[in-house]
Amino acid sequence: MKFWRKEKSILYALHPEKIPASGARLTYTFGLGGIAVLASLVTLLTGVALTFYYVPTPTDAHASIILIQDVVSFGAVMRGLHYWGAQVMVVAVTLHLARVVFTGGYRPPREFNWLIGVALLVITLVWDFTGYVLRWDDGAYWAFLVGTNLLREIPAYGETIYRAIVGDAQIGANALLRFYGWHIFGLTAAGVFGIVYHLWRLRKDGGISRPVLDENETREFISRDELFFREFITSALISAALVFLTLIFPAPIGTAANLDAGVSDVRAPWIFLWVQNLLRVIPPLWAGIIAPMFVLALIIALPFLDRRGPGRAIWFARERWKPQAILVVIAIVLSALSVLEVWR
Ligand code: HEM
Repeated sequence: MKFWRKEKSILYALHPEKIPASGARLTYTFGLGGIAVLASLVTLLTGVALTFYYVPTPTDAHASIILIQDVVSFGAVMRGLHYWGAQVMVVAVTLHLARVVFTGGYRPPREFNWLIGVALLVITLVWDFTGYVLRWDDGAYWAFLVGTNLLREIPAYGETIYRAIVGDAQIGANALLRFYGWHIFGLTAAGVFGIVYHLWRLRKDGGISRPVLDENETREFISRDELFFREFITSALISAALVFLTLIFPAPIGTAANLDAGVSDVRAPWIFLWVQNLLRVIPPLWAGIIAPMFVLALIIALPFLDRRGPGRAIWFARERWKPQAILVVIAIVLSALSVLEVWR
């Protein structure tokens, strides 16, 4: 008996004997959830390899990355795959979210899985940010300093939250060690558990959403082997793309952080460029805390702004214009702010 046929395993649960062809169509999901799973696996496995050489102290962190990059056998490949795996994961998760909105894939009974998905989005972004900080180069250090100082802006509890996260009155060895711990253990555990639960929940909700059949229509199915074959081809293509990116565009690293130098031309990681831009024009509490929380609250609320009819799993359904319009506005505003920040 093959391992994915064991009735109680999660692999079996995710690969039933046959699944409706409409939900498995490439032009329906674009395989984006699956690509996010694969990218997270690549990032996780290469991350384990990096821990053998990475040293989480302010004096040695940057040097240990240079060692991985220039001396350790296959170190540059491991680091490149880790970096590109993380970038692909962020992009795939974001596009997956958009796919779910534009097809109404959050409709009952899938609202709860939407909320799990939002938690996964937050985990993915924080995972990315904590990893960026570990580089301990100029850019990472200043992003760390600015990002954590925003916590101090939170009314009443700001200083307490700052101390709990940074572990001290200012950025230093404690902060780096804490972020390392969160990156390799806390967020990894939350991410793995969240993904497994999201996938289990997908099956519990009856699989991927699909159009409601008219009376005389019959549903077509694809077999487990066909699903497995499609997953294999997608995984091979994405893995090849990751290797290609790694070989052509090595993972970036700047000069070692100089704690005495001023903020010069430092840029936030690309996912937070829009916050960096906002920080130039409105007070830090609004730019760094209230605006991101507002965007997050809007995203959480999207399924609950659309109470019409059963999920028909149709792209750009007119009756679901409200959540779609809100997502488009969020995407345009955040992209415009990010592009303007790069052009400054
Ligand atoms: C680490 C991040 C994530 C992973 C690995 C993941 C994985 C998956 C996979 C494999 C599917 C099956 C269908 C597909 O590929 O589209 C799926 C469905 C779904 N995901 Fe995610 N997902 C993630 C994040 C999110 C986010 C950010 C949201 C939304 C906020 C979300 C909401 C949903 C919903 C509602 C479904 C069911 C959609 C339907 O049935 O049409 N997921 N997810």
